[in-house]
Amino acid sequence: MEIINRRQRMFSISRKLRREEKVVGLVPTMGALHAGHLKLVEEARQSCDVVIVSIFVNPTQFNDKGDLERYPRDLTSDAALLADYDVDYVFAPDVEEIYPEGSSTYVYVEGISECLEGASRPGHFRGVATVVTILLNTVRPDKAFFGQKDAQQVAVIKRLTSDLGFETEIVVIPTIREASGLAMSSRNALLTDEQREKAVAIIEGLREAKIAFKKGERNASNLAEMVQKRIESEPLARLDHVAVVDRETMQPIDKIGDNETLIVAAAYFGEVRLIDNVILNRMQ
Ligand code: PAJ
Repeated sequence: MEIINRRQRMFSISRKLRREEKVVGLVPTMGALHAGHLKLVEEARQSCDVVIVSIFVNPTQFNDKGDLERYPRDLTSDAALLADYDVDYVFAPDVEEIYPEGSSTYVYVEGISECLEGASRPGHFRGVATVVTILLNTVRPDKAFFGQKDAQQVAVIKRLTSDLGFETEIVVIPTIREASGLAMSSRNALLTDEQREKAVAIIEGLREAKIAFKKGERNASNLAEMVQKRIESEPLARLDHVAVVDRETMQPIDKIGDNETLIVAAAYFGEVRLIDNVILNRMQ
């Protein structure tokens, strides 16, 4: 496994891989790897000849400086894990490699970027769309792997790759959870033991609503209210939002019909903001 720090080196390797007609898979991450990331890596390993994992804590997607500073970083242990998972290249550039002095181009996906996570974290999806564009242009992968846990991110990236004509296939992997149900997240490491235990309120609320949906409830506000009540019943939680939305556009839905629909939720436990979602009516 080679660790690459320079964009030029990444360009030349990806040029060589294309010449050799290898199927290249990219797993973009910000490091602090956990079982959710590793599932993406496994999926990439299964369907690609060459697996590249990027590790880059992207400053442009953090609207809160404290959040950026607190974000866990440990390249040495991340790289050791990835070597065990048979990864071929780790692309771990410095900030100056991705955003050299004078860089001033941003990618903004209108419509999907403003609501929900975008409303709570202004500028977040502009940063995500920009760095994903840079990574896709640098690596030029055949497939890129993303987690359903970040449902709005998936919607933004699918729109972006379709609109800008990227050939990369976007592969979406279901959310990996701890035994308790809590969605794996690098931010879980910042929770106290008690907060971590209580944070299951989010998925419990989402699961209650999904059961109600399966029993026939189609009214979005009733479903959202169930999730809200469950989260608000937990004194350590501070609810940010709950919404029933279209999976592609992330726009709110009143009555659930045939389009794939999500319930998304975000809540704070202390300073730590956690998100999760469930798909109500998955199309096969
Ligand atoms: P990061 O939070 O490190 O996540 C990297 C990838 O892992 C994302 O696609 C995310 O959805 C996925 N992931 C995280 N937790 C998961 C879980 N529990 N189950 C399944 N997949 C999970 O998301 C980012 O980084 C950044 O925004 C990035 C796309 C790298 C751009 O900077």
